[in-house]
Amino acid sequence: MDFTEVKSVVLLFLTVFSVPCPFRMAFSPNVANLTAWYFPDDDEIVQEKPARPHMTDKKVSQKQLADFGVLAAEVKQPKSWDEDTNLQEIRKNRGYQSHDTVDCSSLSDDTKVKFFTEHLHVDEEIRLITNGIGYFDIRDPEDKWIRIRIGTGALIILPPGIWHRFCVSEEDGCLKAVRLFTNEPKWTAYPRDGNSLEGIAFNCYS
Ligand SMILES: *[C@@H]1O[C@H](CO)[C@@H](O)[C@H](O)[C@H]1NC(C)=O
Repeated sequence: MDFTEVKSVVLLFLTVFSVPCPFRMAFSPNVANLTAWYFPDDDEIVQEKPARPHMTDKKVSQKQLADFGVLAAEVKQPKSWDEDTNLQEIRKNRGYQSHDTVDCSSLSDDTKVKFFTEHLHVDEEIRLITNGIGYFDIRDPEDKWIRIRIGTGALIILPPGIWHRFCVSEEDGCLKAVRLFTNEPKWTAYPRDGNSLEGIAFNCYS
């Protein structure tokens, strides 16, 4: 085969096998209802009123989030999320066979405090927002807080071992979410003691 022939074979191969490519479609760095920013340095102000945005102009792109292992996808019809082909692909590829739903209007105060206490899980945390707006706060590899604002139609996957916390935004308190999981989720929350990085058993950055 000469060079031209090789080139056409390669091109043919690419055409046949790369379209459609479900892996390419599945996650996106341009999810409409997901934005992120670094917090102001003083976390005590945030702790006092967690449901406020506490926005800064230090934006974090979805590409940067992906570098920290945080993946996102968009579900265009969140009410009929079960029929979304892209999400079906993600569920199949990652073994998310089960799900349940949470409605934050029925969460107890204790549960809210637990959600907003910094913690980690040994499994991924997968959430699809079907109504309202919530905040996932995660630590970057340098232990700085990033706030992720996530609203209706956005799916987020936090990697195992990332320190995080969650609260419902005051912008829209009626948050509903679908929690996706493999058959046996290990949802034990390991709270972070003090502020040291010691004791991170499962940290995804290391
Ligand atoms: C994001 O979600 C909120 C709350 O449901 C909704 O009001 C808003 O229209 C959504 N924005 C986009 C860009 O989809």
